[in-house]
Amino acid sequence: MKLTAKFVRALSLSELQPGAIAGVELEGTQVLLSNLDGEVHAVSGICTHEDYDLSQGFVLEGAIVCTLHLSQFDLKTGQVYNPPATEPLRVFNVKIEGDIVFVEV
Ligand code: FES
Repeated sequence: MKLTAKFVRALSLSELQPGAIAGVELEGTQVLLSNLDGEVHAVSGICTHEDYDLSQGFVLEGAIVCTLHLSQFDLKTGQVYNPPATEPLRVFNVKIEGDIVFVEV
């Protein structure tokens, strides 16, 4: 883990409509952003089971479904709901200024 975290510009809010997800790389870290009913959340963009890009997945009732082996992770808390993954996703702080979404990495 890095010792110094800072907020980094991720994308424009207009690029992340309610219900949408977006994978971004920030300072070498893969982050998965989601807009759940107007609330923006950020979790690790890589599945904890294998090194797989979660932005290839789909949203189901507030969870991201990994399309490789179908583990589901809560988009707010990172909690894992079903195997084969057993470790939760890391959660990142988000702030919004105007139309810009920043993530603390
Ligand atoms: S890589 Fe995501 S569940 Fe296996």
